[in-house]
Formats: sequence, C-alpha cells, structure tokens
Amino acid sequence: MEEQTMVLIVGAGPAGLATAACLTQLSIPYVIVEREYCSASLWRNRAYDRLKLHLAKEFCELPHMSYPADAPTYIPKDQFVKYLDSYIECFNIRPKYHTAIESCTYDEARRCWLGVAHDMKTSVSVRYMARFLVVASGENSAENIPVIPGLHCFTGETIHSSRYKSGATYSGKNVLVVGCGNSGMEIAYDLASHGANTSIVIRSPVHVTTKEIIRLGMTLVQHTPVNVVDDLLVRLSNYVFGDLSRHGIVRPKMGPLLLKEKIGRSAVIDVGTVGLIKKGTIKVLGNISKIKGKIVEFEDRNEDTFDAIVFATGYKSTANTWLKNGESMLNNDGLPKKEFPNHWKGENGLYCAGLAKRGLAGIAMDAKNIANDILSCLASMHDI
Ligand SMILES: Cc1cc2nc3c(=O)[nH]c(=O)nc-3n(C[C@H](O)[C@H](O)[C@H](O)COP(=O)(O)OP(=O)(O)OC[C@H]3O[C@@H](n4cnc5c(N)ncnc54)[C@H](O)[C@@H]3O)c2cc1C
Ligand SMILES: *[C@@H]1O[C@H](CO)[C@@H](O)[C@H](O)[C@H]1NC(C)=O
Ligand SMILES: *[C@@H]1O[C@H](CO)[C@@H](O)[C@H](O)[C@H]1NC(C)=O
Repeated sequence: MEEQTMVLIVGAGPAGLATAACLTQLSIPYVIVEREYCSASLWRNRAYDRLKLHLAKEFCELPHMSYPADAPTYIPKDQFVKYLDSYIECFNIRPKYHTAIESCTYDEARRCWLGVAHDMKTSVSVRYMARFLVVASGENSAENIPVIPGLHCFTGETIHSSRYKSGATYSGKNVLVVGCGNSGMEIAYDLASHGANTSIVIRSPVHVTTKEIIRLGMTLVQHTPVNVVDDLLVRLSNYVFGDLSRHGIVRPKMGPLLLKEKIGRSAVIDVGTVGLIKKGTIKVLGNISKIKGKIVEFEDRNEDTFDAIVFATGYKSTANTWLKNGESMLNNDGLPKKEFPNHWKGENGLYCAGLAKRGLAGIAMDAKNIANDILSCLASMHDI
C-alpha cells in the first residue's frame, strides 16, 4: 500500500499538531503519523500528576489558537491536554495513530521522501511518498539513563521520570532522585511531601529561580539585552533563596536566559524543593560512583541504602533511528546541526519542528516557518 501526500509529518505531539494546523491554514495537504494510540502521549501518559506548564501561558500557545481568557497563568497538565484536544478539533487534524515510522529515505530520482511505517494494529507495512518531510518526533522520544557501574544489579526499584506519577506509593521508603532539572527537583518535592525519605543527586551547577522571576525575564528580554536581564534575574533569585552553595547548589557562570539560549538548559523553577533542602528534609548528595545490591556508593566515599532510584536524567531524540539522508539537518544525537534560528530546515524539503530546546514557543515558531517555507517552495515550483 502506498499513499501519496504533499507533506508527511512524523509525530503528533505539540510540534506535529502545530505544523498540521499551519499547513491547514495555507490549504497545503499533509499526512500526520503517530506511533502511539493518542496525540501528545508525553502529556497524557508520560508526565507526573502534579505537573503544570512551567512557563506563563503567554509563552506556551500554539499558532492560531489562544488559551481561554479565564485560564490560569500556569496551565495544569489536564487543561493543556484539553487545549490540545480542542486544537485538534478546530483544525480537523486526523493523525494516523499506531503508525510508527521505521524509515524515511530521500529518492533522488523521484525527488521525494519515501517513508515506511508499521501499522501496529494490522501489522502491515504502509508506504508514504511525500514532497516534504517534517520531523516532529520530539526531543523527548526515548529515556536517557546514565551508565553507572552495578546499576543493572540494583535490587531496589528503578524508574525513569517519564513513568513516575506520584510519591504516594513511596511513603516511608528511602528514595534517591538522580538529576536536578525541573523534573528531578519537582519529583523530589513530591516524594518528600508524600513521606518518602528523599535524597537528590546534584552533579552540576544549576540556576534555581521562581516562575514569576522567569516570567519577568522572558518579558523584559524582548526589549532589553540578555546579559542585563540575566544579571537582574540572578540578583532577584539570590535575594529570594540566599546562598545555596552550602546545600550543594551553585549557579552556573552563564546567566539563566543565555544558558537556555546557548545550550538549551532550563533554569529550575522552584516548587518548594529548596525550602525542604534548607530544612534538611531533602538531602543533597554528590556523584554516584557505583551500586552494590541496594547500596549506592558516592564519589566522596559515603554510602547509603535505597529502596528506589528515580532517574530524572532527561531524554534522547530517536530521529536518527529512522531518518536516512538527514545529514543536512541533524547531528549524531538526532538534534539540529545549525544554530537557532536556522535550525529548522534541511535539504530536499526536509524540516524539523520542536528540536531546538525552546519549548512550546519554539515549536510555534518552527511550525509557522515550515508551513510558510513549503508554501513559497510550492509557489516557486509553479513559476517555472
Ligand atoms: C516534563 C516536561 C515538562 C515540560 N514543560 C514545558 C513547559 O512548561 N513549557 C514549554 O514550553 N515546554 C515544556 N516542555 C518541553 C516541550 O514543550 C514538550 O516536551 C513538548 O511536548 C514537545 O513537543 P513535541 O511535539 O516536540 O514532542 P513530543 O511531545 O515528544 O511528541 C513527539 C511525538 O512523536 C511521536 N513519535 C516519535 N517517534 C515516532 C515515529 N518513529 N513514528 C511515529 N511517531 C513517532 C511520539 O510518540 C510523540 O507523540 C516540557 C517537557 C517535559 C518533558
Ligand atoms: C560529577 O561527574 C561529572 C562527570 O561525570 C563531572 O563533570 C562533575 O564535575 C562531577 N561533579 C562533582 C560534584 O563531583
Ligand atoms: C534517610 O536517608 C538518608 C540518606 O540515604 C539516610 O542517611 C538516613 O538514614 C535515612 N533515614 C531513615 C530514617 O531511614
């Protein structure tokens, strides 16, 4: 079976949906495929219960649709999913679910992309032929777990943050959280508030701030140089939290907004974790050196016994496992080669949406750029 279309979009998360909506607005036909049985599976199935959007709603809109006027500034997960559902309905997006792309190759002779997908319901292969290909399979496609000697023999429970729901089942247990990004810090808070004896491994410098300070910064930086805004953000954050270095938390040299821009690392928006660290309720530990049974040994030679380890150690892109001929756009990690704002376009009608570590605002920009570029390609093909 072979299906022909103008644009093939791989992935029906926010990036794929936003691209579909922008194409619809320009009357460009497309097919959107998704390996899961639903759209935005990260938000529906792979996010912890208490998750809210970390950024204020004005920075989290997809193109052509605003949040309801009475929506809270920081949208809870369930409300974000509802927004996506109405987005899908509004633009009449019909993803082909349970359809995992297994390879996409550029056919020089026919000047098109050939996609092979596996329909998981019927177990048949489906072929797509498209003039343009949009990689929207996400930066969060596969779990990233660090290599630690002895980890595979750990006799407690290990879980990645994407499968963590709530601390309710960990009450009274000794739990170690590895990773100090937004997920790790919030999960540590959630565990501790459910009565788990919680420790967190903080291996590298990190900016801790508040959601209001970040919102102020994101607003100011639209008109003010980033280094000036960053100086202010660091001052304000230090005023709120004080010096945290004796608790094992030190700030990176680069400011929070510049760090996000340069390497895509987000500042941590505190949900109460720092207060519990100061009180000693949550213990901060250094790098792990090895694991033996239930005993975790640290580089400072201390050791502790844990019932569970939560890895909030991030994700990997898996685009390289299926995209062939993607060298013009993606590096070996399956992320854009070119720097923002030129990251979204490769050669031969290849694009990516949502791979620039810029959250939903970045996704909205990518989707609009891609749809407009496809329109201008089609217009110039017509000219000849
Ligand atoms: C815990 C968490 C909180 C976040 N909070 C915010 C926030 O507050 N504000 C913000 O702006 N950003 C936030 N982000 C970042 C970002 O906005 C989200 O990760 C967003 O979901 C990314 O959308 P996406 O469509 O690029 O990727 P995804 O949501 O991961 O969607 C990609 C889709 O592609 C599918 N797919 C992958 N491979 C294939 C294949 N081979 N064939 C078919 N389908 C495939 C996947 O199943 C998935 O559904 C957060 C991220 C995480 C992890
Ligand atoms: C932890 O290990 C990483 C590399 O594995 C290293 O870069 C970092 O400096 C270490 N941190 C501490 C506190 O020892
Ligand atoms: C809590 O965890 C810390 C760090 O692992 C450990 O030293 C301490 O003994 C634990 N407390 C209890 C009551 O188990």
